[in-house]
Amino acid sequence: MSRRILVTGSASGIGAALAEQLSSAGDHVIGLDRHDAEILCDLTDAAQIDRAIAAIAGELDGVALVAGVPGTADPETIFAVNTMAPQRLAEGLASKMRDGAAIVAVSSVTAARCPLDPAACDAWQAMTPVQLASQPGIIDGKTAYEYSKGLLNRWVQVAALRFHSLGIRVNGVSPGAIETPILRDFEISIGEEHLARAEQMTGRHGRPDEIASVIRFLLGPDAGWINGADIKVDGGLHALRAAGKTVGEPA
Ligand code: NAI
Repeated sequence: MSRRILVTGSASGIGAALAEQLSSAGDHVIGLDRHDAEILCDLTDAAQIDRAIAAIAGELDGVALVAGVPGTADPETIFAVNTMAPQRLAEGLASKMRDGAAIVAVSSVTAARCPLDPAACDAWQAMTPVQLASQPGIIDGKTAYEYSKGLLNRWVQVAALRFHSLGIRVNGVSPGAIETPILRDFEISIGEEHLARAEQMTGRHGRPDEIASVIRFLLGPDAGWINGADIKVDGGLHALRAAGKTVGEPA
């Protein structure tokens, strides 16, 4: 049976790969992006998000929150698009989602650099993007990106609890470096050398379809007992690094 799934960030990279995979499997994809999408919406603008929610008629089987901006953007935009927009969309759409539906939010392995504990994250969630951007620790776009995804990971847990009684699962996917248009921005914000070392360790960067297939799995019934999880999809980079520290670098 064809499912109705909203995909944000559907115009490019991982979101476009996901839309393609879902459509090929017979699902009806509702794409949302600032350009080249069925629903045009600037996710920095709460009023546009609310209009997009209102524009979606009928029930949804899934919501994939893929849109995001890298650390080359300004901190306010980073918190608006990466943290606040996914929450506002998901919370606004929950009443339009079927029992058994799923939400997947795309985070990042760099969320691990966010030093906030869960209680601090919950306190930060109440702030506006402008307030978030001026918190201690947010010194540039790179740190804003790390915190934005750390806050998103915590929200996934809170949302899993909040939507549990509705029968909606909520999970996160955390990619490592993936060959999409924003990889160049990550080279600027994180550093070319850092990404080159990662690429050397795993042999290559990931492809958008390799993240899309994990999101697709989490959206579907085969992942019915996975809830509130963060799935790292980084070609093994973090495991290789962690193991290399104690047993030596791989040959
Ligand atoms: P991309 O740049 O190819 O796609 C991002 C999409 O989000 C674009 O279509 C863009 O138009 C949309 N978007 C950005 N700001 C928007 C706004 N204000 N309103 C509406 N749409 C907006 O990048 P990619 O790689 O596909 O990124 C997808 C997600 O994956 C992001 O959340 C990113 O943080 C995450 N990610 C990507 C990694 C990578 O190496 N490519 C690594 C880790 C996480």
